[in-house]
Amino acid sequence: MTRIQDLVTPGLLLDLDVLDANLARMAARARALGVALRPHIKTHKCVEIAQRQKALGADGLTVSTLYEAKVFADHGFTDITWAFPVVINRIAEAAALADRITLRLVVDSAEAVNELERTGHHFHVFLKVDCGYHRAGMDPHSTPALDVVRRLAASRTLAFDGILTHSGHSYHGKSPAEICGVAEQERSVMVEFAEHLRKEDIKVRAVSVGSTPAMSQVVNLHGVTEARPGNYAFYDYTQVILGSCALQDVALTLQASVVSAQPGTNHAVIDAGALSLSKDLGSELAPRHTMGEIYENYAAHTLRDDVRVVSVSQEHGVIAGPLPVGTRVRIVPNHSCLTAAQFDEYVVVRGDDVVDRWKIWRERD
Ligand SMILES: Cc1ncc(COP(=O)(O)O)c(C=O)c1O
Repeated sequence: MTRIQDLVTPGLLLDLDVLDANLARMAARARALGVALRPHIKTHKCVEIAQRQKALGADGLTVSTLYEAKVFADHGFTDITWAFPVVINRIAEAAALADRITLRLVVDSAEAVNELERTGHHFHVFLKVDCGYHRAGMDPHSTPALDVVRRLAASRTLAFDGILTHSGHSYHGKSPAEICGVAEQERSVMVEFAEHLRKEDIKVRAVSVGSTPAMSQVVNLHGVTEARPGNYAFYDYTQVILGSCALQDVALTLQASVVSAQPGTNHAVIDAGALSLSKDLGSELAPRHTMGEIYENYAAHTLRDDVRVVSVSQEHGVIAGPLPVGTRVRIVPNHSCLTAAQFDEYVVVRGDDVVDRWKIWRERD
């Protein structure tokens, strides 16, 4: 059997037992909170992992690109939310996919509704709501938001599915208590808006929320129907710092090796730069600047104090601290979703043994 130390670098290691524990824990958590789980698969882009999520009771999937929607439809997933403001020039492709599966689209503009209606095609459509993150989504207290919902509810071709939001600002919470507050804000903004719409006799089938930090801290999802966390499958160093998980819950690590260490310098270079780790800076709450912490002992869940990745260029990663050429390092990434998206496959491991290899569907068209 192949062992981790026999692999070429750089490569992604996916700890199967940790992954399975993460998937089971979030499935149980969603059940306990009384909401359906519709995992965001942009984190892993992997059919084998989505199948495990489905086996644990996931009600459909969430994707961020039409490519992901097509791939997972081709692999037997029949209820998919494309949780991204609909890309108008891809509506024809979306229509073709919506003929094969239940595809749920998201809008946050009158322009997008116009274009969807113009096709005459039957689409399921969510309104995207801004619950405080202020990225995309309509202000639920605004007249334009009400107008869009009224149009969706009255449309002869579009089916109004409900309201959807993403609490991305949970990543800026300064403590688990603050993140819990963001989760409650997300819930209350959405539930109040749904109640307002119901008073107008508008049927709001789904109230959809979700981010991994919020789902990790929330205590009450009363009035919410589904949650869409994604990162929880792997977690990462950011989630450790935010308190969503412990270091031993991080399922995805990167194996790299030292390729250069010049005498008289106090740094080493590894074969994992931005195209392995991404340039994600991680959480503002991290105790020190890091582009990737390095394990001292993976099985004992300890990190090295003396060395870490401090900068990345395209393929070079720079480690502060001396390490001899040839040394293998195992790195916990700042952001597992972006790291996974750089690779073609997961090397699935149990302990030091390679037990499988799973494709990452990371193309875009
Ligand atoms: C619309 C939407 N829903 C859900 C998620 C999942 O959030 P997380 O990655 O924190 O689990 C994201 C992540 O960016 C998102 O953009």
